[in-house]
Amino acid sequence: MTDISHQLHHDSQLHGSALNVTPTSSEHSFDWSAEEYKNFSSEIQLLKHEYHKSTLFSDDALVKLLDNYPRTWLQCYTMGTNPENHNEWTPVHIADSSGAEIMQALQKGRIWINAVNIDKYDKQYGKLIEEMYTKISTNCPHIQNLRNAFNALLISSPGIQVYYHLDTDPNMLWHIRGVKKFWVYPAQDKRFTPQNYIEEIIAQERHENMPYHSWYDDHAYKVSLEEGQAVSWPQHSPHRVENVTVNVSLTSSYESTESRKLVGVHGANYYFLKKLGIKNRPTNTQGVFPAIKAFSYYVCNKLSLLKKGSRTSTYVSDIQVDANSDTGLSKLDNASRTAFSYIDE
Ligand SMILES: [Fe+2]
Repeated sequence: MTDISHQLHHDSQLHGSALNVTPTSSEHSFDWSAEEYKNFSSEIQLLKHEYHKSTLFSDDALVKLLDNYPRTWLQCYTMGTNPENHNEWTPVHIADSSGAEIMQALQKGRIWINAVNIDKYDKQYGKLIEEMYTKISTNCPHIQNLRNAFNALLISSPGIQVYYHLDTDPNMLWHIRGVKKFWVYPAQDKRFTPQNYIEEIIAQERHENMPYHSWYDDHAYKVSLEEGQAVSWPQHSPHRVENVTVNVSLTSSYESTESRKLVGVHGANYYFLKKLGIKNRPTNTQGVFPAIKAFSYYVCNKLSLLKKGSRTSTYVSDIQVDANSDTGLSKLDNASRTAFSYIDE
């Protein structure tokens, strides 16, 4: 795969606007109630926004975006139909396809595309997200030092699923187009998140997907998401998705004093307490001991004393996006690492 030359070509476009569309980030935003801001981060909430009206997410803009997007930042996967079998999550080569080909294949296939770092790729998306988080931060004084951390544009086929999983930082989903079914499960509940899983996800020993059973749905918040709606949830709430139509969504995450502490406590549990043989490792974040645990984790992490896991094994694939195929995908003669596996290199 010619990821290096692709990358050099695309890196030259990262500074400034790569899209020839009118900036609309200040035109379209959201208007939440005082109650909604107050409950942000502590409750599952269905919220409203207007970002779907922005030309940044029109069909033309998406085709241009996919044409030029750095291939190391353009992730593509396919998957099976059983939500309990997350091992069928499979990487797909996408680097050699144009924006139009990708959109064509997407209509026919079972394809999930994750354009990571959308804010860094183009300043118009960056401005939209910066204003989004300035507004949230200003109106949420209960969250200390809130700052946007990571953003990605998700474009996906009808009928696909995103398996039951958990993200390290607190995040949310801004739905732009299409209809998708979305489930959010209780956070920090060992029935739904085994302790070793959350720790190993933070230590990058495993991907975010976790074991799932259909009875979990009896305890979930479920919504059929439509354009102009957003869902937010407490940090470490597992969630999953089933698409009805073609979908476009924006996912964004943030960090805060509280969120970093929770990650630090789990990190310390994994690297320090588990190694001491402690089975029921405390996950509370209040008080002196949790503060020492989190502080120790971040200091050791900063000094590169903690061995991070390797997750590259799921990046090798012999499947590619193919607009000429009935399934939107076709098989390659040989398996190789996808261009997006080189993101950290
Ligand atoms: Fe997620």
